[in-house]
Amino acid sequence: MNEFLSEIFPEESAIPKVYQVPFLEQREYLINGELKKWEGPLNPVVSPVFIKTPEGLQQKIIGQTPLLTASEALKALDAAVSAYQLGHGVWPAMSVGDRIAHVEKFLTKMREVRGEVVNLLMWEIGKSLKDSEKEFDRTCDYIVDTIKAVKELDRSSAKLVEEQGFMAQIRRVPLGVALCMGPFNYPLNETFSTLIPALIMGNTVVFKPAKYGVLLIRPMLEAFRDSFPPGVINIIYGKGRETVGALMETGKIDVFAFIGTHKGANELKKLHPKPHRLKSILGLDAKNPAIVLPDADLSNAVSECLTGSLSFNGQRCTALKIVFVHKKIVNEFLIRFTEAVKKLKPGMPWDEGVGLTPLPEPGKTGYLNELVDNAKQHGARVLNENGGQVLHSFFFPAVLFPVNEKMRLYSEEQFGPVVPVVPFEREEEAINYVVNSNYGQQVSIFGNNSKTIARFIDAFNNQVGRINLNTQSQRGPDTFPFNGRKDSAEGTLSVADALRVFSIRTVVATKAVDVNKQILATIIKNRESAFLSTDYIM
Ligand code: G3H
Repeated sequence: MNEFLSEIFPEESAIPKVYQVPFLEQREYLINGELKKWEGPLNPVVSPVFIKTPEGLQQKIIGQTPLLTASEALKALDAAVSAYQLGHGVWPAMSVGDRIAHVEKFLTKMREVRGEVVNLLMWEIGKSLKDSEKEFDRTCDYIVDTIKAVKELDRSSAKLVEEQGFMAQIRRVPLGVALCMGPFNYPLNETFSTLIPALIMGNTVVFKPAKYGVLLIRPMLEAFRDSFPPGVINIIYGKGRETVGALMETGKIDVFAFIGTHKGANELKKLHPKPHRLKSILGLDAKNPAIVLPDADLSNAVSECLTGSLSFNGQRCTALKIVFVHKKIVNEFLIRFTEAVKKLKPGMPWDEGVGLTPLPEPGKTGYLNELVDNAKQHGARVLNENGGQVLHSFFFPAVLFPVNEKMRLYSEEQFGPVVPVVPFEREEEAINYVVNSNYGQQVSIFGNNSKTIARFIDAFNNQVGRINLNTQSQRGPDTFPFNGRKDSAEGTLSVADALRVFSIRTVVATKAVDVNKQILATIIKNRESAFLSTDYIM
């Protein structure tokens, strides 16, 4: 056994009682306001955590989830379609204020299961306790902010506008049936950041949890069932291709909200028989570079690049996945960076101060090793002590230098704890990397000279969705627009933008002559229409 990592996985008895997890056999799934019981085959939920036993290390299986088929998926879709009822269903026709009340009810119930969900986040995807709590709380905050934004939207749409002799009221209305799918690295936050806006704008939803981070939805199933009218939210489980593929083929999905790979998104989009009817909101691959200029504050650059590349073991779409460092300072940068990596504490998600944890994807450590070997073959070295050491699902970060364009790591998204460092001399080398990349999510520039920074900003503003100065790339604050170019995204998300992407504006317009004004005034005064109204939520 690998000496350095030999003590990384615990004995069952060493796991604090409060974080131990009972085996959870889930057979329930949610269709049309009813928790159905699945009697068919189940999918084991395998934790990235191994347990030390007298027979050796054994991977912990923490539960099972229903392996539904296309038939159940289609029933879920039927429920969503009839709840939408071509826009005349209870939910899409409901007032915004009433829809908010349903979401608030859900939020209250969701908060009650915080401990359970946080624990499952740790066990299912290996996220540290601190980050799991942060994910849960950030999601609740996102819901609160969404409610606030909906109220603002409602207020600003309550007035009539007068333009070029026309009077009109413009309001946002739902699009139809949404399919929401989230990623395994933020199975709660990223999923809910599309699911909640989709619901609150009046769409009905079929939601399929991520490939890992599935069981953690279980504690919220009753809350979903009890907070929304039947069919408004339907939750299915099973293999993506079989279940979701069948949904797309029906042509009844109006909105496709998907966070994952561009390959996966393309395959599913292609199945829709009427692509012009499908609106997609996609968060996809990325390879965000850091560019460290010769006059950068090195201690800041090192600490931002460290968290940027290695928080949650580099498994963030926004992670810094390649670091360009100017030749003048690269040696000093590498000394400090590898020292900082050495201080990261490997361990289990619930360990105090843990910085590195096991990886949930089967075969991931092998894949990362392939990338490291490929870089070595082309002349890179692993610079840090224990870099690339593996024990089962655990991979100790590898810092590779010097990385060049012949290596897979130069262009491939590693989505894990491998940090490729590229030395550069001329600004164009770093600029050309971004311009020619297939990805266009974010970039981080570290430097102090305003003129140089301005040149980089102007070189990148048509390339990526966000340019970070002396700070790592990231999604937050969630009120900022989050998007990407090329293979990185379709559509923009933020608290307010999400409300826009899950809705469309409808206009009631008339020539502003007396007779028409009188009709409008009567409708409004007598509250004859739910749409045409100047009422707003306080
Ligand atoms: O995985 C992609 C997430 O949207 C990243 O969010 O930058 O807050 O970690 P974050």
